[in-house]
Amino acid sequence: MNVLENFHVHSLPESIRALSREAMEARVWEIKKELGSRLFMPGHYYQKDEVIQFADATGDSLQLAKAAAANKEAEHIVFCGVHFMAETADILSDHDQTVLLPDLRAGCSMADMADIHQVEKAWEALQQELGDTIIPLTYVNSTAAIKAFCGEHDGATLTSSNARALLEWAFTKKERILFLPDQHLGRNTAYQMGIPLADMAVWDPIQEKLEWGGDPENIRMILWKGHCSVHEKFTLDNIREVRRRDPDVNVIVHPECTFDVVDAADQAGSTSFIIDAIQKAPAGSKWAVGTEMNLVNRLAATMTDKTVFSLNPNMCPCLTMNRIDLAHLLWSLESIRDGHPHHIIRVPEDVKEQSLLAIERMFAVPKET
Ligand code: 13P
Ligand code: SF4
Repeated sequence: MNVLENFHVHSLPESIRALSREAMEARVWEIKKELGSRLFMPGHYYQKDEVIQFADATGDSLQLAKAAAANKEAEHIVFCGVHFMAETADILSDHDQTVLLPDLRAGCSMADMADIHQVEKAWEALQQELGDTIIPLTYVNSTAAIKAFCGEHDGATLTSSNARALLEWAFTKKERILFLPDQHLGRNTAYQMGIPLADMAVWDPIQEKLEWGGDPENIRMILWKGHCSVHEKFTLDNIREVRRRDPDVNVIVHPECTFDVVDAADQAGSTSFIIDAIQKAPAGSKWAVGTEMNLVNRLAATMTDKTVFSLNPNMCPCLTMNRIDLAHLLWSLESIRDGHPHHIIRVPEDVKEQSLLAIERMFAVPKET
């Protein structure tokens, strides 16, 4: 298949569009059964229920990266998540395994906020200003090219569940960290480790300059000016409002939320951390949750001995996660069964090699949460 053909976003065929939900579900089960262990379907916690019900492994970014690396049996990995996750699965899979993303439009607004050319320019400017004192770390929510950049420059990837451990590791290597592409995860994690806000600068990739007023010698964190457009929608006002309504409510948020929100919350942690905390909480407890809506709704529906609701009552699910729907999943599986798998995610070999270095460094650092 040529590259242009692969990246062409075909539209869903009428033969699938016309089916009822029940008919689509029946076909997905049928193809899954037919393909057996030739197929592996990891699904991120933020996926829709209509998709997650079919997942062979469910988890957060770190768990899914590990699940993809561990499965050496499947010929086809149909990734129910977003583009950067499918790229990671391709980087970690064997040459004879094919990774498919059911809808190529399932990107990530945060990952789109850093491209490799911007990162290279930033690196050059920062090296000139601060010398060889910086190590790059990238949240896995980034392109494979940026992961490769980190691999090449002795850095690593991280996820929201091992961010602190990776920052601690990085500070044993260099004085400063360039943290890509989520300023909030970087700021929140560094602050939790005792690094004052005054020692954190922000790199603005549009203006191509460092937002920093003090002595450059004091900079310890250089935060890329990117964010998650979903998690940034939780505000301090949301927290004040839920507490005004009910002072007993527990506020728990993801570290992709802004500093103010994380600071004011009762607890903050990765998607798995949030699920775990609510699961272990006593019956009758109340939880205002600051993370993606598909997950919050699922927690509310399954943990019925507790009250679980979104911290922001007007919140929407992640638009790009939602692009993987039942119809696109079926279309993807049919393409495999018919011998013409489409929407294949293939990371170029040289990029794969360097990004694997960054991911393996992450796996080598013991996780702590
Ligand atoms: P985690 O899966 O690491 O919690 O990240 C959340 C997220 O936004 C994934 O896109
Ligand atoms: Fe990207 Fe945020 Fe959606 Fe995760 S929730 S895929 S970080 S936009």
